[in-house]
Amino acid sequence: MSSPGWDNFWKGQRKSFYAVMKMATGYFVSKVEKLYHLKPTDEIFDYGCGPGFVADSLARKKIRITGADINEFFIDECRKNHPGSLFTVITTDITTNQKILGEQLKGKQFDYIILLSVAQYLRAISDLEEIIKLLGAYMKPQGMIIVSDVLDENTSSIKDAFSLFTHCIRKGRIGAFAGFISYLMFSDYRTVSKQTKLLQVPEQAMRELAARNKLSCEKVHGLTIQKSRSNYILSFTPAK
Ligand SMILES: C[S@@+](CC[C@H](N)C(=O)[O-])C[C@H]1O[C@@H](n2cnc3c(N)ncnc32)[C@H](O)[C@@H]1O
Repeated sequence: MSSPGWDNFWKGQRKSFYAVMKMATGYFVSKVEKLYHLKPTDEIFDYGCGPGFVADSLARKKIRITGADINEFFIDECRKNHPGSLFTVITTDITTNQKILGEQLKGKQFDYIILLSVAQYLRAISDLEEIIKLLGAYMKPQGMIIVSDVLDENTSSIKDAFSLFTHCIRKGRIGAFAGFISYLMFSDYRTVSKQTKLLQVPEQAMRELAARNKLSCEKVHGLTIQKSRSNYILSFTPAK
């Protein structure tokens, strides 16, 4: 599914990204909460959940979620921090994931399925489509898939760094920003990104993908700190 570069990068990740990822994910959760008035009875599935920052943020509101990721270390962290919830190790192969989710989720259906900061690490838009198809089977008739932090031809790393910088200043977290930038500059992230470009998904491609799968597609602004990223709500019916 994802390119060998990003696939191996993410499988091998430990805690290097934590400070900024946690802040960015917390921001996303606060926006989604406000927009959709999430409640404890909502069923939420976080695909590519990482170390569980969505779960951490929502746990404060007594909302428990289900998650899946290709990184075993991240899933162990999720299980340790949320022992009452289901977190599953998946692979980058869609057929294998179909089987894993079929066994683990047992036909469960969700109000919200989150795909946050995952699309850019996939190899091709067709891989994203396979994932959306797979996740569609687990979405309630009135549910939605939130595909967030999507890069496209309008994404600018300078603009994104600036919006992250101003957010960090406002939150008094300039150290987190400095750590993040130095990590991007001097770590294996930089090496991998030179070999394997982050995947861009243009708006038109996202709309066509949705239409092929009989999903409606709404573009939503402002779910992420980085202002030049896009967010889409996919649903069987026009978004709530
Ligand atoms: C930037 S992190 C985002 C984590 C989490 N969604 C968040 O925003 O807090 C990217 C995540 O995508 C996961 N990932 C990468 N490729 C994936 C794939 N093909 N399928 C599922 N998850 C993947 C990584 O393991 C990592 O946890």
